[in-house]
Amino acid sequence: MQDAAPQTIYLADYQPFGWTIDSVELTFRLFPEATRVLSRIRFAPNPKAPSSGKDFFLHGELLRLISARIDGQEITPVVTPTGLRCAVPSGPFLWEAEVEIAPAANTALEGLYMSNGMYCTQCEAEGFRKITYYPDRPDVMATFKVRIEADLPVLLSNGNPLGQGAGWAEWQDPWPKPAYLFALVAGDLVAHRDSFTTQSGRKVDLAIWVRPGDEDRCAYAMDSLIRSMRWDEEVYGREYDLDIFNIVAVDDFNMGAMENKGLNIFNSKLVLASPETATDDDYARIESVIAHEYFHNWTGNRTTCRDWFQLCLKEGLTVFRDQQFSGDMRSGAVKRIEDVALLRARQFREDQGPLAHPVRPESFVEINNFYTATIYEKGAEIIGMLKTLVGDADYARALDLYFDRHDGEAATIEDWLRVFEDVTGRDLAAFKRWYGQAGTPRLKVAETWEDGTYTLHFEQENPATPGQPHKDAKVIPIAVGLLNPNGDEVVGTTVLEMTQAAQSFRFEGLATKPIPSILRGFSAPVVLQRTTTSAEQAFLLAHDTDLFNRWEAGRALAKSALLAMVQEGAAPAPQWLEALAGLALDPELDPAFRALALRLPGEDELAQALYDAGATPDPDRIQAARREASQALAAKLAPGLPALIAAMSETGAFSADAKAAGRRALKAAALMLQARLDAGQAATAGFASASNMTDQVGALSALLAIGEGQAELQAFEKRWGGNALVMDKWFALQILHAAPERAAELTAELTAHPAFDWKNPNRFRSVLGSLAGNHAGFHRADGAGYRLLADWLLKIDPLNPQTAARMSTAFETWGRYDANRQGHAKAQLDRILAATGLSRDLKEMASRMRG
Ligand code: PHE
Ligand code: ZN
Repeated sequence: MQDAAPQTIYLADYQPFGWTIDSVELTFRLFPEATRVLSRIRFAPNPKAPSSGKDFFLHGELLRLISARIDGQEITPVVTPTGLRCAVPSGPFLWEAEVEIAPAANTALEGLYMSNGMYCTQCEAEGFRKITYYPDRPDVMATFKVRIEADLPVLLSNGNPLGQGAGWAEWQDPWPKPAYLFALVAGDLVAHRDSFTTQSGRKVDLAIWVRPGDEDRCAYAMDSLIRSMRWDEEVYGREYDLDIFNIVAVDDFNMGAMENKGLNIFNSKLVLASPETATDDDYARIESVIAHEYFHNWTGNRTTCRDWFQLCLKEGLTVFRDQQFSGDMRSGAVKRIEDVALLRARQFREDQGPLAHPVRPESFVEINNFYTATIYEKGAEIIGMLKTLVGDADYARALDLYFDRHDGEAATIEDWLRVFEDVTGRDLAAFKRWYGQAGTPRLKVAETWEDGTYTLHFEQENPATPGQPHKDAKVIPIAVGLLNPNGDEVVGTTVLEMTQAAQSFRFEGLATKPIPSILRGFSAPVVLQRTTTSAEQAFLLAHDTDLFNRWEAGRALAKSALLAMVQEGAAPAPQWLEALAGLALDPELDPAFRALALRLPGEDELAQALYDAGATPDPDRIQAARREASQALAAKLAPGLPALIAAMSETGAFSADAKAAGRRALKAAALMLQARLDAGQAATAGFASASNMTDQVGALSALLAIGEGQAELQAFEKRWGGNALVMDKWFALQILHAAPERAAELTAELTAHPAFDWKNPNRFRSVLGSLAGNHAGFHRADGAGYRLLADWLLKIDPLNPQTAARMSTAFETWGRYDANRQGHAKAQLDRILAATGLSRDLKEMASRMRG
């Protein structure tokens, strides 16, 4: 990873590789310190490349070359730290090489590494070059045949099994793929098995591989997989294409999961679940990530990306598909609300700061730094807008054409948009700006009413972002409905297509001036700026037929109430409390929706809003205001809370379904408020009687939020000390809820806890990530939060640059705060940048943030 002069890579420089690969054969002789990898690769000059057959270069990093041969003749290539070069024949040739690698020494968790005695791989984006010499780029696709030799019971790779015996196994993947989809797993594993029969009647063997002892916590992941396979057939017409589908859970993993062809590798936290150990949020995440990785089989694997600038081609689309799936499995509106909340918390935040970048970037230094909320979540929003603009039927036709036209290819955003243009006859040149221009558009709305005609006037503003001072108008689909004053919908949801910087839309023949419901379902990722009365927001909260916008109205009320508290020292707005109380206690409404409505905007979100409005957020005041708002809300709801808690308390057997989860979520929200009234009595009882992890975490959080819960923390640790994934919650909860003046000290103390294995990314995130998530604690005026995080980033960076770089984004918001805090944050970024041997990953992030 260390590189004196990191190179910037540009989209504009793209050149196809000068050769094609017919087939790849790999043999692995696995040993922890010295694994041998033998490769046999058939190259032929690529007739489509301008550099056809010229300048042969193979990527390779941290490899010890043992031997290399071309057409059987030993050669001596020129080896550099990033690869090798050699002269090659002008026609097709056979490349053979043997290299040695040390998986046990691989702490970066990229390439072939070891986790708890098991061998596993992570090749996306550029990890395959740490396994053998290869053109490690997504547009080079080949079929792979793999032989694994090791004295271990389970030996897995991509594709279908060819054969196996004592100490060996062979696999053949018939589908051409880029190297980043290669995978290998070897270890002492056990399988949770099932099968799926595809729509054309082929039986597929399914297996989830885990460490012995974990096999009874795979049922939900398996069920999610089967539902995903069925859904992709029913909704997208996509059938699975191998005889076998394997998932492996590993404890040490930098990301969530990886879509390797036929052999998905997962962070164990996204596989293992039982009611006792996993929360409802964990279940929902497992369902969506299992689906996400499975859906990649068509969007990512069968059709992949030409280069890494096109990453959103597979990620945006696959996130969009997994969001659709979860919406279908659960409540569509509730899922949409959660997704938008996440988009605002992560992607809008990214767009607002120094790390803002287009969904399709034009340059990067380290591609691992571009697995961002912008590529994923904003990428998915763009797909959603396209679907809204062209309609469901044309979206389906365009997708069919995409799968058909680009099967087996490495495609681009241009290819993607072209299928929509070809199907609809539209010109998407202006729409394409969503891919090329960073930043969140601001959408201003005004209204006029005259002679029965109601007009909405929109103006869009596209703020400057790093490297992009000027922006063009975006194509914005604005879903609008109109209600009359007695709450009836007079105009049902209509999509207005905004294409200009300023544009007006008229609605004629109305009897009374309507109340508009704008941006229904959050039809575009923009910040809506509309000066309206709280009476109107309360009206929409009560009457809107669009559930998303009902929530949004409540959110807007809560935000303005909280901002007035922070900025003017106002009391909690009675109108907001009134409206929220009515909703929280309305038995007609979905409990999941009511729970979401009761969740106050987070401290970071309030800081983002203040900064947006030109103010300097004060983390301590934000924290105090939010606490005061909760207290007022609790007082307002007081008469109804005990009955609500009782009504939402589970009676029957545990179910992980959305309905039961919604009831538990509402119960937890009510318990959180009740704790502010009874000094935690109900929560203490709730913790003691909890029979599942959701209830346990809900009650513990309620206690920690009011400064109680020490005895419960101890009991929790005693019970779950042996379960690392559950202990992650124990670490995280107490840090997230720590008082600002204690957060850094507590974090420091916990880093000395025996269960804190800092080299494990989950553990690192649960402790240091929670410090970053404690807004007032991290942004403490004396800089202690910043300093502690920087200490740990510098400590982990030499071992695991990816985890260091991801966690460093905690600093991306420093520009929002006062000069004192800015000084402290910049000092830490400077300290990081001054460190010797800094990874390319962390260096790029710190320098972009430092500006
Ligand atoms: N491609 C993976 C996904 O989104 C994410 C990932 C990227 C995992 C890089 C590991 C490394 O599903
Ligand atoms: Zn993905």
